[in-house]
Amino acid sequence: MGILTDTYTLNTGATIPKIGFGTWQIPNGDEAYNATLFALKSGYRHIDTARVYGNEESVGKAIRDSGIAREEIFLTTKLPADVKNYEEAFEKFETSIKTLGVDYVDLYLIHAPWPWSDRGGDYTEGNIAAWKALEEINKSGRAKAVGVSNFAVKDLQAILDNGTIVPAVNQIRFFIGSTEEDITQFSQDHDILIEAYSPLATGRILNNPEVKKIADKYGKTVAQVCIRYTLQRGTVSLPKSTHEEYILQNAAVDFEIDAEDMEYLNGLQDTEV
Ligand code: A2P
Repeated sequence: MGILTDTYTLNTGATIPKIGFGTWQIPNGDEAYNATLFALKSGYRHIDTARVYGNEESVGKAIRDSGIAREEIFLTTKLPADVKNYEEAFEKFETSIKTLGVDYVDLYLIHAPWPWSDRGGDYTEGNIAAWKALEEINKSGRAKAVGVSNFAVKDLQAILDNGTIVPAVNQIRFFIGSTEEDITQFSQDHDILIEAYSPLATGRILNNPEVKKIADKYGKTVAQVCIRYTLQRGTVSLPKSTHEEYILQNAAVDFEIDAEDMEYLNGLQDTEV
């Protein structure tokens, strides 16, 4: 099946498909159910959701109805960013597992180092407390791996200093022109895989003329170049779409951007239109 079954290896030893189906902003109900089911039927084997996306119910149902064995699907969900204590982390995990209707998830992430209502605030103690809960959930086998999302170097350093498990991934906003080199480098130096969410800048890069020029050269779409770029940067790519045509297109990225063009793309800034 090619690219959809290509994997990276996490620091736990488990494999993770390089492309995952992103479900942020897909409403629960028919939309999330149909999109997830179509992605699975098209060969995607990695689904990324979160408690706050509100669509765990439909995502879980699509997974069950797909008829694909649970162990063949890599499933991620996330602890809401405003939960910064030990007990509530367990409760929220239980809610997620129950809503998804699964026995385990492959990856459970702290969604952000701060609540979205206080972006940039210092919640170091709360993150350490939540991380202790995630470590126990991991040891129980109900989250095969644990990690973080939107963590900056100082946030990640606190976990490395105070935890006993190194996060398996750091899921960050990552696309051409917005690659957060310091946290990317720091994570990769610590064998923490970067997962790229919004690889298409939530659609805002699609009319970028510089990326379009590269896309034309390869006979690909801007979306395909963006996804391919994230893969060649060694990150997991999590494109989101509700359209069947796009879901298929986003997985047809079995081509190679050459070194010179990668350098050009690395140098682009402010690619959002
Ligand atoms: P839609 O969901 O309506 O299909 P990101 O993955 O960076 O979050 O970007 C998602 C946005 O990009 C969504 O608005 C999605 O549209 C759009 N999109 C996804 N794939 C493609 C594609 N191949 N071509 C054009 N737009 C796309």
